[in-house]
Amino acid sequence: MQKNFKRTLITTALPYANGPVHIGHLAGVYVPADIYARYLRLKGEEVLFIGGSDEHGVPITIKAKAEGVTPQDIVDRYHNIIKDSFKELGISFDVYGRTTSDTHRRMASDFFRRLYEKGEFIEKTSEQLYDEEARQFLADRYVTGTCPHCGNERAYGDQCEACGTSLNATDLINPRSAITGNVPVMRETSHWYLPLDKWEPKLRQWILEEHKEWKTNVYGQCKSWLDLGLQPRAVSRDLDWGIPVPVDGAEGKVLYVWFDAPIGYISNTVDCVGDDWTRWWKDPETRMLHFIGKDNIVFHCIVFPAMLMADGSYNLPDNVPANEFLNLEDDKISTSRNWAVWLHEYLQELPGKQDTLRYVLTANAPETKDNNFTWKDFQTRNNSELVAILGNFINRAVVLVGKYYGGEVPEAGKPEQFDLDTLAEIERAVKAVGENLDNFRFREALREAMNIARAGNKYLADSEPWKLIKTDPERVKTILNTAIRICGILAVVFEPFLPFMSEKLSRMLRLGKLSWGMTAQPDLVPAGTRLGETELLFEKIEDSTVEFQIGKLLEAKKKNQLAAWKPEPVKETVGFGTFEKLDIRVGRVLECEKVPKADKLLRFLIDDGMNRRTIVSGIAKYYQPEDLIDKEVCFIANFEPRKLKGVVSEGMILSAQNSDGRLIVIGPHGEVTPGSSVG
Ligand code: MF3
Ligand code: ZN
Repeated sequence: MQKNFKRTLITTALPYANGPVHIGHLAGVYVPADIYARYLRLKGEEVLFIGGSDEHGVPITIKAKAEGVTPQDIVDRYHNIIKDSFKELGISFDVYGRTTSDTHRRMASDFFRRLYEKGEFIEKTSEQLYDEEARQFLADRYVTGTCPHCGNERAYGDQCEACGTSLNATDLINPRSAITGNVPVMRETSHWYLPLDKWEPKLRQWILEEHKEWKTNVYGQCKSWLDLGLQPRAVSRDLDWGIPVPVDGAEGKVLYVWFDAPIGYISNTVDCVGDDWTRWWKDPETRMLHFIGKDNIVFHCIVFPAMLMADGSYNLPDNVPANEFLNLEDDKISTSRNWAVWLHEYLQELPGKQDTLRYVLTANAPETKDNNFTWKDFQTRNNSELVAILGNFINRAVVLVGKYYGGEVPEAGKPEQFDLDTLAEIERAVKAVGENLDNFRFREALREAMNIARAGNKYLADSEPWKLIKTDPERVKTILNTAIRICGILAVVFEPFLPFMSEKLSRMLRLGKLSWGMTAQPDLVPAGTRLGETELLFEKIEDSTVEFQIGKLLEAKKKNQLAAWKPEPVKETVGFGTFEKLDIRVGRVLECEKVPKADKLLRFLIDDGMNRRTIVSGIAKYYQPEDLIDKEVCFIANFEPRKLKGVVSEGMILSAQNSDGRLIVIGPHGEVTPGSSVG
């Protein structure tokens, strides 16, 4: 339901300041929101683009406790890392605020007090989960247990991230304290509840009837919660980190983080535009959009709107283009397992490659389903799309103008049909980019933008100005004038996606301030323009670069395996007599080679002090055969002979299975004569 609006307020989920941001955050929220904000600005629309850190809540206090520092230390550290790295990636926030600011404390308190005075809360005493050892009530991420809806065993006290359902801590089956691991007891406490059930009919009407155009994942999730029936939801907590509940008799209680954080969008607006903020939040001609990940849908489509309805003076969001999740190398991104590509590290390790990351994350955006990031794909998209298609076209056009006309854009003559056809295809693609962006289809928009570069490449390849320059120099002027115009169109159309490239290209073409309307101007780069200095737009990414990144991930995987590894439980006790039955000896390896057609097996010829014997062992994956020759090994000498892949094995070589699964051969530390007994 597109209404008429005069301006757009774009919000992006406020990331918890308990760690840096990673590519999952970027692909799901910040890159698409930034593309959209830049696109609207190019169209000359009035936009306010809001970001900020979410600095309250249990994720922060858990991290502080783990490091033995204060929550304030944690948020100060990560707020700055996050803020700086967003800036370096070109995320063009008008403001990046924080929920520990004075403005926010005031705005959130006022919001609560207004609803309180209007009688919009229910005050209720009930039994809640309590950890007697930690002397603390357990809510939100302080408690985990089994989700009553989907059976996920690691659901949190306020939400199950597997099925997205919002929960009360007491809904969890088999709850456990995340602080001590203890089974909680029940203890009475009183809280303020927002009666979501009161707003259910209005929410139903608003979402299910008036916003059928929302993305199917968002609409579907909302519908299933509304169909389950909404319950009153506590908006205060017994914690010491957060915004104090601003009413009498609320000592020791703070606002629930999901009550205060979305108000952060409002506070950050105030910090950005001052008194003018009401125009962005209360004028019905302002359109509000929330860019979020799928785990935030319930809070932005049900809880926050119910808060806004309870106040009664605010606009509701017009759309909530939530994305699904991005995986990394086929595995779920995880902060605790360090399975992530961290933005601040990326910026350090791949300097100047901001556009490549923005490009790859958009091309693989998890718009309708979870998607996957791999370093190989990252390299391929950079080298065979950005370098070979986009960069190559622009470079050829600019170089030829330099070579034939000393860098001055030539005058176009009468166009031929091929020129007109090419320009018509480009006009179609530009329109398609716009239409897709209007509908939050960023991947498809990017694909269409690349089609413009493809059309440009084909134009030069088919018209072959480098040949015609000898036979028909007049025609070449038209071709290169057209090619430069296409470059200008690319500078505009790619600005939302690849702002760094666009800025360089605009300088080269002397475009000045860009606008979407320029794409339709035939004299976008007027004849006679002297092109600026050629700048390198994209660089190839070498194998060594992606190998380094993959190496980092393998390192993380190893660490996780080690952390998760437990030794096997000890087997049942045996007497000396049983042990003595095994005849373990030391032998020297005389020969070692792979067993043909068996990728796991090595054949050993062992000097056992009396004779030579053949032993087959399943360790081929972990050793180069020649590395074992002349080494001493331990083996079971009275092991019943067995035939393995046609070879009779007369014993068993002892090896240890390492935590990473590798088999490591066991031998003596010191010189031992072959045939010596082990015992
Ligand atoms: N910090 C939350 C998260 O990372 C998002 C908060 S969005 C806001 O899931 F609306 F509350 F600000
Ligand atoms: Zn669940």
